[in-house]
This record gives sequence, structure tokens and C-alpha cells, in this order.
Amino acid sequence: MDVEDAKRAAGEAAAELVEDGMTLGLGTGSTARWFIAAVGRRVREGMRLRGVPTSRASEALAAEAGIPLVELDATGVDLAVDGADAVDRRLRVIKGAGAALLREKIVAAAARRFVVVADESKLRDPLGGLLPVELVHFGHLSTLAHLDRVGGGFRLRLDAAGRPLETDNGNLIADGELPVIDDPEGLGARIDGIPGVVGHGLFCGMAHLVLVARRDGTVDRLTAD
Ligand code: A5P
Repeated sequence: MDVEDAKRAAGEAAAELVEDGMTLGLGTGSTARWFIAAVGRRVREGMRLRGVPTSRASEALAAEAGIPLVELDATGVDLAVDGADAVDRRLRVIKGAGAALLREKIVAAAARRFVVVADESKLRDPLGGLLPVELVHFGHLSTLAHLDRVGGGFRLRLDAAGRPLETDNGNLIADGELPVIDDPEGLGARIDGIPGVVGHGLFCGMAHLVLVARRDGTVDRLTAD
């Protein structure tokens, strides 16, 4: 099984958790898209489902798949399913390679159940890798100087035209390279404390279940215990 088949297996395994009447958080990325496609099939088979997309890209995919879309409101979502850039055995996750981390975190925090879908290449112990941070335009050079003290050499992410990439929220993304993150909760709190930062890719204590698709075709379930 190649990596794309593994992503598909993880996304489709998550779709088995979907029940009639649910409002679903629809994640972003090449793994979550398989979940969205499977949810679209459930809708066509007659399930009454509604989706809250975590990005404009997922909104377009979900609309194409025929999933009725709603705004996130105070009632939250029953189940949110999203991908990961890295995940450790304690279900701590790094997200945001697709620049959707802020909406993804808002939806995950509003979910009664947050399920992460990944192929086995995303497993990292200790946790580490590229860490994205979303920041507002105003004073961003000052914000970057504060981020620099965290380590990782944070730099603005550029778009295909070489300009600073803008998120769906009109903000900027800075990426730091942190191969080993010994204290993800502490690092997240430190970054959250920098004025100008509106979100970061560390999702700690949020995932209830991680579905890891192996190259041999099996899907492991990692749960918080
Ligand atoms: C989007 O901002 C990200 O958080 C994605 O969910 C994450 O990068 C995983 O994407 P893939 O499933 O494409 O690897």
C-alpha cells in the first residue's frame, strides 16, 4: 500500500465513526480530503449530516461532495476529523502545513470528539518538525523577533509568487524548524503569550483518537489514556 492508499484508509476509517444527524468538523489536507469524500458518499446514501469546513479549500471539496455546510455556532460539532503533520504517542499533534491551523484549532476545540487521521510517516517520538505560527500583519517584524527567542529560526512562509502567504483569515504564517520539542505544552503556552500571534500548530490535549494507517493496510487506533 502506498502513502496515498494509507491516507485514504485513515480517512475512510474515520468516516465509520459518523452517525446520522451529526454535525462534522471537516479538516484540511490530503488525508482529511478522503474523509470529506466518504462523508459525501454517506450524504448521497441518505444520512442527514452537516459540515463545518476548516478552510476555503475544504469548503470547496465539501460543497463538491454535496455535504450541507453550516457556520460554527455555540453548539459546536459532534465529531471533527483532521490530518496531522506530526503526532506522538501521547496524542500531541503538530498541524498547519496547509496554513489552516487557526480554523482547524477552533473547530477541534468545539468538537465533542476530535479524531486525527494520519499515515504512519507522521508518527514522531519525540514530537518535532516544522511548526507553523499564524500572526497578524501589524508589527509582524516585532512578533518575529519575539518568536526568534523560542528557537527554530522562524521565517515568514511565502506563496508561489514569492510574497508572504496570507491565510484564509488574512493573516501571515511563520514557520520554525524544531526537530525535537521536549515540552510541547510549555512551548505552546510560550508562543501563545507573544502579542501578535493568533495561533500555532501545536494541538496538545485535544485529540481523543488518532487513526494511523500503516503501509500493510491496517489502521491502528491510538487513544488518550
Ligand atoms: C492544514 O493546515 C494542516 O494542518 C493539515 O491538516 C496537515 O498539514 C496534514 O495534511 P496532510 O494530510 O496533507 O499531510
